[in-house]
Amino acid sequence: MEIATLSPSGSALDNHRQAEFENRFVHALNESGMLQLVSLGHRAGLFDQLANGVAVTSSELARLSQLNERYIREWLGGLTVSGIVEHDADSMTYRLPPEHAALLTNGRDANLAVFAQYIPLLGQVEDDVLESFQHGKGVPYEKFHRFHEVMAEDSGQTVLPALFDSILPLAPEIPERLEAGIHVLDLGCGRGLALMEMAERFPNSHFKGYDLSQDAITWACEQAERRSLNNVSFEVRDLSDFNSTAETQAFDFVTTFDAIHDQAKPLNLLQGICRTLKRNGVYLAQDIHSSSHHHHDREHPLGPLLYTISIMHCMSVSLAQGGEGLGTMWGREVARDYFTRAGFSRIDVHQLPHDIQNDYWVLRP
Ligand SMILES: C[S@@+](CC[C@H](N)C(=O)[O-])C[C@H]1O[C@@H](n2cnc3c(N)ncnc32)[C@H](O)[C@@H]1O
Repeated sequence: MEIATLSPSGSALDNHRQAEFENRFVHALNESGMLQLVSLGHRAGLFDQLANGVAVTSSELARLSQLNERYIREWLGGLTVSGIVEHDADSMTYRLPPEHAALLTNGRDANLAVFAQYIPLLGQVEDDVLESFQHGKGVPYEKFHRFHEVMAEDSGQTVLPALFDSILPLAPEIPERLEAGIHVLDLGCGRGLALMEMAERFPNSHFKGYDLSQDAITWACEQAERRSLNNVSFEVRDLSDFNSTAETQAFDFVTTFDAIHDQAKPLNLLQGICRTLKRNGVYLAQDIHSSSHHHHDREHPLGPLLYTISIMHCMSVSLAQGGEGLGTMWGREVARDYFTRAGFSRIDVHQLPHDIQNDYWVLRP
């Protein structure tokens, strides 16, 4: 006999729909556990140790990595049941197949383990975000231990490999002008990897990076010195009032990589960019690809993750600066409105095949 099931509100339940959701949820719990294990393995350098495809015991891996065997064995157990490593029960060995190694270590393809770090990184601030649900004041950058390190690892593999072949040519005149020698500004530059890469490639041009974070800028300055780059400089600068502080018509090319939607005052920053660009200048903005309407993003390949990142970081850091809290998923419609209000008259938007997460805007005053 079919047992009628009622919801807490008393209405009849579709048991099939409930079972489907339950399965999906259990799957998600397992997958989120797997991401935590991957993040640990990445940070401990364990995937690099396993990348040669040789089967090892937990003791051998502990010796190679100089880490504790009990922890290594538990981690390998988790990776075995996650299907990431192959386990031979007779020889008690574990092996990372080359197809998995290709996606969990640095090499030709993006290292997916880098992105797994966002789960524990964001989890650190759950108590602060929960409090923000009450007072709405957001969570400051200082609460995000390792944010700039992980962000640079992320953009280091999404932006840098595509910079010269795909991203800069979106503004067709820019590569040639960079060769000849121009002034370039990157705003919200973080650790400044994109700028340093350009500075190395185009020695006739001059590059500047501004960011709010003292830590990120110190790291960038030290790195530029280590790489003997004398055509790039970095400055700690709060860009909230860039509309009034930007140097007038000083730069030929301005870039922002993933750095508008989490600003305190995005419109002020965009107006400042308009002001600091020379008349024939170009602004290139990489920012999140989404619609400004939730219901259009149901099929977005990263929708749930990006809304999570928004609440746990982007929206919250903006609100903590007394800002607008636009959110990661501000979307094309709102972005276009902001760019127009800032004073840009020629606005083109592109997507690139290597990047399912971002739009690339090319804007001219
Ligand atoms: C998502 S990160 C992107 C960093 C870098 N462009 C990259 O792609 O690796 C956004 C950056 O904006 C900076 N930022 C946020 N608010 C700022 C403000 N008010 N003034 C200057 N920089 C700010 C942050 O410190 C952070 O480095």
